[in-house]
Amino acid sequence: MRLCKRQQQLGTLLQEFHLLWHPQPFRERQPVWCARWPALAAELLALDDEAATGLNLDGLAALNLVAGHVPEVRALIGLSELPLFSSPPVERGGERWAWEIPGRKRAQIEAFAAAASPEGRPVLDWCGGKGHLGRLLASDWQVPVRTLEIDAAMCRAGVQLAGRLGVAQDFMAADALAVDLHELAGRHAVALHACGELHRRLIRHGVQAGIKAFDVAPCCYHLHLGETYRPLASPSALHLTPDDVRLAVTETITAGARERRQRDRAMVYKLGFDVWRRRLNGDRYRNFRPVPDVWMRTGFAEFMEQMCRREGMPAPAGVDMTEYERRGIERQAEIVRLSIVRHAFRRALELWLAGDLAVFLEEHGYAVTLGAFCARELTPRNLLISARRG
Ligand SMILES: C[S@@+](CC[C@H](N)C(=O)[O-])C[C@H]1O[C@@H](n2cnc3c(N)ncnc32)[C@H](O)[C@@H]1O
Repeated sequence: MRLCKRQQQLGTLLQEFHLLWHPQPFRERQPVWCARWPALAAELLALDDEAATGLNLDGLAALNLVAGHVPEVRALIGLSELPLFSSPPVERGGERWAWEIPGRKRAQIEAFAAAASPEGRPVLDWCGGKGHLGRLLASDWQVPVRTLEIDAAMCRAGVQLAGRLGVAQDFMAADALAVDLHELAGRHAVALHACGELHRRLIRHGVQAGIKAFDVAPCCYHLHLGETYRPLASPSALHLTPDDVRLAVTETITAGARERRQRDRAMVYKLGFDVWRRRLNGDRYRNFRPVPDVWMRTGFAEFMEQMCRREGMPAPAGVDMTEYERRGIERQAEIVRLSIVRHAFRRALELWLAGDLAVFLEEHGYAVTLGAFCARELTPRNLLISARRG
């Protein structure tokens, strides 16, 4: 299916089911869809812990569950399927290019490099950190690479690593949000996990400045966003707030069991505090200012005392404290289950966001492929937009 047609269909369906994925159960005790589809809510609330955790991680299974109650949702399943770029990652066991790179990061870089085919052009490695990807491409593709990175210390480290490997890679310590791309015209731009506006600016300005080829794996779509997401491609019916956009990147496939336990505990604590705050200050959700991590590592009573002191509220006394922790645990269990509906739409939303960039490039005369460059277990941000213009 043509990219723009798929994009239009995704946008229309996402807008149609806005009621299901927009409300955040953390803020709204009973999202309005619970009243419209009570059997869906009841099925979710009856799930055991293991099934609920599994469905929160498995978007396709979640979408199928929702489709059991709202059959029209099924159309999103086909639209969410994407080709995997077929080249197998190149194994470079023990080679010198990969000094200092942690295993998972290295595997991501190798998969990206295998999926992005060379064009024989000099490469621009956008927001490249120490230039690991650029260094691999300079060595593999035998083309000069310029790595752009804002952090001067990373650039210095990158220069050393490139020197040790003897590849043609230089570094430009510059702000990707301000740099003039015209001096980089004609290049092949690669960007692995440049966040939010950093990847959007590369594409928006790169097109005008004459970048001939792009391989972009976006991440953190919600960063550097204004009040709403402004599509790059033709106007769409879909209107997204920054919180909506953030939904696309909230899964924790790569998080370990310990990390998940810590996250669950933080949620219980915050929800226990929220119940108390609602009782004192009125029944509506208020945002949390960032809570220091160390407070989450104390007991609940100590956490509540610190929070109440910071917020200028009295703390609940004695046995009440246990009661608020228990309410926090109950709320957390409910939220985990009701959030399955929201999470069912996560991949479709991410595909729409990546699709917006892909369609924009098509509208500017590029031949574009949108696919996955690696399995989601390696990184959930595995989408690759590959675009070429003659
Ligand atoms: C998630 S890392 C990705 C690094 C590299 N592409 C990789 O995959 O290993 C994002 C990089 O963008 C850099 N960065 C952040 N803001 C930037 C800016 N305004 N201009 C240039 N680089 C920036 C960060 O310092 C960081 O090295």
